[in-house]
Amino acid sequence: MSNEAGLSFCAAVCTVGKKNGVTGRQKTEPLHSQRLFACSVFDLLRHAQARPIAKRRLNDAGKYATMNVANRIRVFACGKGGGPGKNGEGKHEMKIAMIHGQNHKGSSCHIGRMLAAQFPGSQISEFFLPKDLEHFCVGCYACIEEEADCPYYAEKKRITDAIEAADLLIFTTPTYCMRASAPMKSLIDLTFTYWMSHKPRACMFGKKAVVISTAAGSGAKSAVKDIANALFYWGVPYVKKYGISVQAMGWAQVSEKKKARIEKDMKKLAGVIEEKKDVRVGLKTRLMFGLMRKMQIKGLGASPKEKAYWENNGWLAAGRPWKPAGKQETETHGAQR
Ligand SMILES: Cc1cc2nc3c(=O)[nH]c(=O)nc-3n(C[C@H](O)[C@H](O)[C@H](O)COP(=O)(O)O)c2cc1C
Repeated sequence: MSNEAGLSFCAAVCTVGKKNGVTGRQKTEPLHSQRLFACSVFDLLRHAQARPIAKRRLNDAGKYATMNVANRIRVFACGKGGGPGKNGEGKHEMKIAMIHGQNHKGSSCHIGRMLAAQFPGSQISEFFLPKDLEHFCVGCYACIEEEADCPYYAEKKRITDAIEAADLLIFTTPTYCMRASAPMKSLIDLTFTYWMSHKPRACMFGKKAVVISTAAGSGAKSAVKDIANALFYWGVPYVKKYGISVQAMGWAQVSEKKKARIEKDMKKLAGVIEEKKDVRVGLKTRLMFGLMRKMQIKGLGASPKEKAYWENNGWLAAGRPWKPAGKQETETHGAQR
């Protein structure tokens, strides 16, 4: 049965998938997920030497790469870098955090990587879920009081550090039952203090993001929306969505025609992202932030610690996360006078 003919909805995919042993795909994945259990300096260096790209990054980018290697994150380079801040093609080198809502390297992952490859020389931190975060939120609310009290803080931090450091976030997820994958949802749950209703991070308000999902037939748009919605509440002002029906269970089955179209789309998308120099926080985000600010002022947040967080950031006065710190101070003083 050809892919084009047979795989137009979820049930079909699940049935055919079983027959063809799709689950075996994960077995063929290299087991070298580079889990780094030993934390001594010697082991870290040895690990870096065994991985030339990681080593190169170590030499090139020092601290950042060291952090990545130490945290057993897969880091790879896309092509050759050019002058400082720009690559050979004149594009800006960026820090990219790529989060895959699946362990396997299927169509969604391929498309994410295809996009990342359009920014040669960028530093890319790549995570696979649940491999890199094997937990669900237990609803203990410990993070509301103190982030580090989350039972999964250490694992989570490796990912959140990369997210917070990145200029561009790329999320990929297969469409599962018309939505994003469960591991991706789990990451969203485990980072819920990022939300504007809790402790939004100022760094989010200047980031760009792309959310990618593939479906065999339908549902990719809803899957992409799940993640894009969370990013809105994180405060990310520039989010591009790419949901596509690939009529396949894996990348190898995607037709050449579709692959060519996807490649064209990714080139175009990269161009649009590159051209967007000035990321501005939109009215919807400003309104939502204002609403949450009022909630904190009235003491209706989840904890007094949240209010203190908003206060310390100057957001209960005239400061805003999207304004430069200097400007915030001036305006705060102005308001006080
Ligand atoms: C559990 C499961 C649920 C799925 N649900 C849907 C669905 O709702 N709609 C759909 O069109 N395809 C569905 N599919 C098919 C995948 O979305 C599709 O093959 C996708 O391209 C896989 O992406 P990947 O190669 O990145 O894993 C499902 C597949 C699985 C395994």
